[in-house]
Amino acid sequence: MLENKNVTVFVTGGIAVYKACDLIRRLIKAGANVRVAMTKSATQFVQPLTFQVLAKHPVYLDTFDEKEAQYVAHIHLADWTELAIVAPATANTIAKMATGIADDMVSTTLLATTAPRLIVPAMNEHMWENPATKANLQKLKEYGYTVMDPDTGFLAEGYEGKGRLPEPSRIVEEAMLLLLQHTAELPLRGTRVVVSAGGTKERIDPVRYLTNQSSGKMGYRIAEAARDLGATVTLVTASNLERPFGMDVVGVSSALEMQEALMSKFETADIVVMAAAVSDFRPVNQSDHKIKKTAGNLEIELEKNPDILAGMGQMKKNQFLIGFAAETDHLEEYAQDKLKRKNADMIVANDVSKPQAGFDKDTNEVIIFQPNKEPIHIDTKLKSEVAKDILQEAIKTITNL
Ligand code: CTP
Repeated sequence: MLENKNVTVFVTGGIAVYKACDLIRRLIKAGANVRVAMTKSATQFVQPLTFQVLAKHPVYLDTFDEKEAQYVAHIHLADWTELAIVAPATANTIAKMATGIADDMVSTTLLATTAPRLIVPAMNEHMWENPATKANLQKLKEYGYTVMDPDTGFLAEGYEGKGRLPEPSRIVEEAMLLLLQHTAELPLRGTRVVVSAGGTKERIDPVRYLTNQSSGKMGYRIAEAARDLGATVTLVTASNLERPFGMDVVGVSSALEMQEALMSKFETADIVVMAAAVSDFRPVNQSDHKIKKTAGNLEIELEKNPDILAGMGQMKKNQFLIGFAAETDHLEEYAQDKLKRKNADMIVANDVSKPQAGFDKDTNEVIIFQPNKEPIHIDTKLKSEVAKDILQEAIKTITNL
């Protein structure tokens, strides 16, 4: 999302300036072209040279330091900028932005740019709570700028309070979401996508459960790909993988919990992707105390779990239903059977016995089956790429391409 994007980071003077170094490093790692502009007070905290080395470009400090005669520096920077991040944003710079004051390189460029602006305030708690700051931030929101809330924690003043700069990783995520919002043409804009992921856990007793090999990676990559294509995403997950940003994440454990969570979203969903490995059975009795070792064998009676996908297949109106088929043999036959039996619109089949495909791998190799269409083979590639291909195929079918 940040690949080749022109991002200007406006660094204004507060103790959190040192965190802007990490922010810039992360933006560059994400593929952005980064320029830095600093206020005079920011340079009291970290030398411009640090930012110059990180961004591999001289830092903009003075409005009248016109190095290139053919350009007016602040206008040129304002026009070059595709995303403006003010981090840390002091109460002073926020006040200037709210009132249109342009008296240094940072404030003139911010006034002149038409790029989306992400404001990341960091200041003393009482400055943050001051009604003037609150009113100024309210104005910035009304202007359409995105304002991140500061974190609560240990402040430089030596006490706990609200005012800390959010972690740079979160600022990068917010920047990505903002760019996504400003991308006009996204094929899943306005579409609600619900994705399930991970292997469900069926309790035997408080310390034991039945589960399977699924890591949840394929489902997570699909949820992220849908988000990047503009969809509003809900991820219902039985996996403990790191929570993806920019979507609603609902944690579940058992198949029944997963079914309940999915059903509450089903009616309003446009696309449902069942990437979860749902346990077909659950113990009939779930002991509320730890089962003790006995002399003989232990028998656990299992009862059937509902088939969530098949249930949705019966209920569906306009929802496009995508299921998975994890097979070790007779791939095509079993996948075609699941397509029909579960009344799905697409079954993505993978041979989980292959070393490059299936559970807990970062890559996958799949065949996409759809009613009345030739199967589509997707050769081994990263699950993030496979996820995009699956959604592109779904979009083609939905839009009759
Ligand atoms: N599925 C489901 N509910 C279940 C079992 C599976 O919704 N109780 C979904 C899975 O999420 C997947 C598809 O059905 O999208 C196929 O799952 P799979 O385990 O391959 O098929 P099963 O129906 O369980 O059949 P089998 O175990 O015999 O292969």
